[in-house]
Amino acid sequence: MSDSRLSFDHVYQPPSTAKSGSPTPVTLLLLHGTGGNEHDLLPLAPMLAPGAGVLSPRGKVLENGMPRFFRRLAEGVFDLADLERRTHDLGDFVTAAAAHYGFDPHRVVASGFSNGANIASSLLLARPGALAAAVLFRGMVSLIPEPMPSLPQTPVLLSSGRTDPLVPVQETERLAALLELAGADVTLLFQPGGHQLTRADVEQASRWLAEKRLMFPA
Ligand code: MLT
Repeated sequence: MSDSRLSFDHVYQPPSTAKSGSPTPVTLLLLHGTGGNEHDLLPLAPMLAPGAGVLSPRGKVLENGMPRFFRRLAEGVFDLADLERRTHDLGDFVTAAAAHYGFDPHRVVASGFSNGANIASSLLLARPGALAAAVLFRGMVSLIPEPMPSLPQTPVLLSSGRTDPLVPVQETERLAALLELAGADVTLLFQPGGHQLTRADVEQASRWLAEKRLMFPA
């Protein structure tokens, strides 16, 4: 890897069906959960958005050997200074990766699970315009920016578990309210299960991406 701004270990997969004259494909930014890595969510990409490009970084923080995207002080208690710094670090990486690999930085759609969903919502709020849309599986409130940015009509899907012991229903609703306050176009889905990602999450997210015209081709 020669470009030093590509400071995350990562996987990049170019769009598989790009043809000249076809619309610009989306790039899925895959963000794993605590203890995951850049390979974890790769199998989801063809189910979520067939043919899309994929950028999948590994979180740089290690918690007892488990990669994360930012530090936490306890379960659900985040180190907010670290979160903010690492959110911008991730945003800079995505910008650098777009230049390096030649994808459109305005058509990046984040898809994050748990800790990955939390850095994705932080990126949405801290760097308006960095993401064209986001799919947040089992996300909770992370960054609350002051002042609130404007995310006019940015599509965001929250897919949560009705019996998730880590992310209570009210926490998902708090996140939805925060994003709506910023002007995002929020869709809220509750799955019957807990924190675990399910096939239903992925299938519904795929349908949502198609409805929002965020699949390849656009
Ligand atoms: C996790 O285990 O990843 C938490 O539920 C979410 C987080 O710490 O960001």
